[in-house]
Amino acid sequence: VKGIVDLPLAGKRVLIRVDFNVPMDRNGNIAEDTRIRRGMESIRFAADSGAKVIVASHLGRPKGQIVPGLSLKPAAEHLAELLGRPVTMIGDSVGPDVKAAVAGLASGEILMLENLRFYPEEQANDEGFASKLADLCDVYINNAFAVSHRKHASVHAICAFVKEKAAGHLLMDELRYFDSAMGAPARPLVAIVGGAKISSKLKALENLLHRVDKVLIGGAMANTFLKASGLFVGDSLVEDEMLQTAEAVMAEARKRGVRFYLPVDAVVTKEITEDAVGVVVPVQEIPEGWKVADCGPATVRLYAAALANAKTVVWNGPMGVFEMEPFSGGTMGLARHVAACHGLTIVGGGDTDTAIHKAGVASAMGYISTGGGAFLKLLEGESLPAVDALTS
Ligand code: 3PG
Repeated sequence: VKGIVDLPLAGKRVLIRVDFNVPMDRNGNIAEDTRIRRGMESIRFAADSGAKVIVASHLGRPKGQIVPGLSLKPAAEHLAELLGRPVTMIGDSVGPDVKAAVAGLASGEILMLENLRFYPEEQANDEGFASKLADLCDVYINNAFAVSHRKHASVHAICAFVKEKAAGHLLMDELRYFDSAMGAPARPLVAIVGGAKISSKLKALENLLHRVDKVLIGGAMANTFLKASGLFVGDSLVEDEMLQTAEAVMAEARKRGVRFYLPVDAVVTKEITEDAVGVVVPVQEIPEGWKVADCGPATVRLYAAALANAKTVVWNGPMGVFEMEPFSGGTMGLARHVAACHGLTIVGGGDTDTAIHKAGVASAMGYISTGGGAFLKLLEGESLPAVDALTS
């Protein structure tokens, strides 16, 4: 992939597609700004290089309607604060006002377009809309890793209409780190896969079995594997329709010599609530009418031992309902062990990212991906359509 640093930018109109799809709080303020901080390096770089910078993003899922609560104005203000320079917000993404604003930009100035998803054409990958965006610029930069698994106009169709195109710093980093973990990894390579459902992670699991030395399973999906192994899991969340698939995954792991770890103990409760009291039991002793909400301390110790000699670790998905204090121990404990790991540690997925920050170990990780769906796509062994479009 060609990178932003490979192109002359001075005096050029440079459109940078970022993913500023950040969580907002009830008052319309930015609740968490990681994606803005991580995406802004290319904006600063382009402005410092003398480009006329146009920033474009989506926010939330407004379904092609103008939703005032999903305006990118707070993101533009926050970006200006972080950069320490003005960012002009314009209330549209294409059209005469935008054209005029772009024409009025001086070198080093930054203009932010309104939420691209206010237009249904964005998610429809509409060529007319893409070409209008392309007309705004001389150089197109995709720095929106987290949405690059989508065929949307501003990341996919646009690539056919721009003269010059390249990847921004964040997109380059994401692809490079992922490749060093999964392309030609230092071994042992250990994957930690958690989350609620096997169905949403099945393709990733199947791909990982071809590549990794060990898989550590957590989250509610572990219940389905435990049940498929013949254990009684009480009232725990289980995907009954995935039991045979779970068995097949474990058989495939055995066939391939991949060590497949399941929890050995669990934190169980009658109701999964903030003020519940969890009880630790061996997975063989889950009581009738109780639910698994986290893995237990013996599992954390077992997984820590499995991680001890890892040269590469890839982690996606939490071990339990970590958002609730009584069920956060498994995920927090594991996060600390991953952080202590000497190998390259790569973490991806929105929940996992939140958990790492909650555990206070973000700075000890090798790389934290800004992608959820995009990271999962890579774990599935798939390429990202927007990245393919950028390189073709
Ligand atoms: C994300 O948050 O994963 C990206 O911004 C993509 O958002 P989407 O799932 O609404 O397409």
